[in-house]
Amino acid sequence: MRLWRAFLATATVLASGAPAAMAQSSVTPMPARATRFADKPAIAFGTAWYPEQWPESRWDADLAWMKEAGFNTVRIAEFAWSTMEPREGEFHFEWLDRAIAAARRHGIMVVLGTPTAAPPAWLTQKYPDVLRVDEDGTRATHGGRRQFSFASQRYRDFARRIATKMAQRYGNNPDIVGWQIDNEIGPPSFGKEAISRWHAFLKERYGSIDNLNQRWATEYWSQHYNDFDQIPLHATGQQNPALLLDFKHFTTATWTDYVMNQASAIRAHADPRQFITTNTMFWNGGFDHFKLHRGLDLAAWDNYIQDADPDWVANGADHDLVRGYKQRNFWLMETQAGRVDWVPVNRALKPGQVREMGWQAIAHGADAILYWELRPARNGQETYYGTVLGQDGTPAPIFDEIAKLGSEIRKASDALADTNPVYRMAMLFSYDSRWAIDLQRLHKDFDPIDEFTDFYRPFRNGSQGVAVLSPSADLSAYPLVVAPALNVMTQEEADHLSAYVRAGGNLVLGPRSGMKDDADALWPERQPGPLQPLLGARVEQFYALDEPVQLAGDFGEGEASIWAEWLKPQSKDVRIRARYADPGGWLDGKPAIVSRKVGKGSITYIGAWLEPAAMRDVAQQLMDDAGVRPMIPNVPEGVEIGERSGAGKHILIAINHGDSPKPVAIPANALPVAGEVANDMLRGHGVAVFRVPAGN
Ligand code: GLA
Repeated sequence: MRLWRAFLATATVLASGAPAAMAQSSVTPMPARATRFADKPAIAFGTAWYPEQWPESRWDADLAWMKEAGFNTVRIAEFAWSTMEPREGEFHFEWLDRAIAAARRHGIMVVLGTPTAAPPAWLTQKYPDVLRVDEDGTRATHGGRRQFSFASQRYRDFARRIATKMAQRYGNNPDIVGWQIDNEIGPPSFGKEAISRWHAFLKERYGSIDNLNQRWATEYWSQHYNDFDQIPLHATGQQNPALLLDFKHFTTATWTDYVMNQASAIRAHADPRQFITTNTMFWNGGFDHFKLHRGLDLAAWDNYIQDADPDWVANGADHDLVRGYKQRNFWLMETQAGRVDWVPVNRALKPGQVREMGWQAIAHGADAILYWELRPARNGQETYYGTVLGQDGTPAPIFDEIAKLGSEIRKASDALADTNPVYRMAMLFSYDSRWAIDLQRLHKDFDPIDEFTDFYRPFRNGSQGVAVLSPSADLSAYPLVVAPALNVMTQEEADHLSAYVRAGGNLVLGPRSGMKDDADALWPERQPGPLQPLLGARVEQFYALDEPVQLAGDFGEGEASIWAEWLKPQSKDVRIRARYADPGGWLDGKPAIVSRKVGKGSITYIGAWLEPAAMRDVAQQLMDDAGVRPMIPNVPEGVEIGERSGAGKHILIAINHGDSPKPVAIPANALPVAGEVANDMLRGHGVAVFRVPAGN
């Protein structure tokens, strides 16, 4: 039996200022063990809460409102270092004991954050060497957050000590479901310790300075180094892009150590059923997220819509990417309760969109949705942020919508338990490729994230399930794998992709693929470098476009813009699927898309960044070729279909992201679980969740 669920059903508390509907009842005793995985609700639903910002006399009222909203989870303690350790070595956890106990009285489980994103003043004043140094040499100061250096050993020791103290105290507390390390790690440091770690990192990576010189081609512009200690630490500027790409490898390694320093401290004392994660930011390019997550139990991220005008397909890609870090369901550790406060015009999401975003996250594999935050602090940097309660501790207008989602999640909990998103194909995302292109775009508008999203859009719409994976992931489950702009390709990755094709897979490469190795050096062969023999064709030349070029082929006709490559078949069995029409230009009549069958598999190279209509038609053809079909065909524009399956269940989630009602052809025998469809119409921003019997 799911003990937490039994607990949630019975535990309530009446607190002053609490919602009137709450009635007093006895509290179910908890098992003396951590809840990890075994006993927690199928979908965690909750909020960030900062009890240290409020008088203790108000905690129960806040928690009662959380319960009223349907919350079963609260994240606390991140940023509370100066409350936990107000002076060096003086620890105060009694308040946190009481906050956790209070949450438990309300049937709310707890995620504990380690507070290391916000070091206390005593620490940074006594030990200023722990402060982050910007690339221009400016040292950070106290008063904001993330002012520490990720390379500082002293800071890591302090961080490890507070994490250890917390784990010793709460590692076996059954109310703690998991741990979040730090908060949105990211900004690097360029101080002395970072420089010596950089040199050690390069030595480890290249073994000898001769090897580094050769891989970086340092004869160019007289860059030759005699010793690792001579190599400057830079993230920007007119540096060798090989150095700048290695800077990203360095930040990945340094942030990974930084996180694992705390994770190992927690692991030493915590019940293994408590998960350990860190909360990341969508397309944050500061480090390779696939690598950073290797030592963590699950991925968690913070989803904010900057201009309150969600591009829902792009937002789905964000979720799919995060799920790909561990290839397991993730936590949405933060999402907005209405508006953000960091763009020029912070307008609120429309009515219905907060609920819609919640269901979209679940459809893409979120097993948790936590809002940021419950109520605004009375002062500080973020008083204008959208919150669940006002500063007076009573519901904000968004409360009812959140509570509605909460009650739907509760209803759908059994259906969703132990299910995962259904994927019908995969796409590959490579941080190295993204960075390498960003370092030398050649066309200012060649944004690798935009290009990835432009590829993702028709494949997601057409297949209704795209796993986003790293290029080294096991691909055997997917009939179709699309790698837009896989610019950096190692020999191992090329071998891995060849093996996938030879085993019957269908691989599609986008423009700029197979151009560089992982030191950012050009492959000696033209694109797609080590995959040229498999493709039986090569890129003769690439062109940045200042105006679109036409192309036509077996998909129909369309346009390419920003980038186009002239492909040249080298083997007779290469099929030219599209050619450019560029009268008087270099590309006129040249192949734009080629395919080659390899046994039962195939490899296709799309040499251009296609306009949406052409991309849609090409994608449809490739999905047809690979036998990729959606659950529900012919879904109208703006409607998203997501599926989860597992434990003998098949769940269908239909979301209308538009303002007006849209038809949806839900299978006749599907059983409604939550949400609404009337006469096969889904209202604007409406959601409907169904259980689909086997056989559909
Ligand atoms: C991030 C942080 C939170 C808060 C929100 C507001 O996600 O993790 O502490 O600052 O941003 O956007």
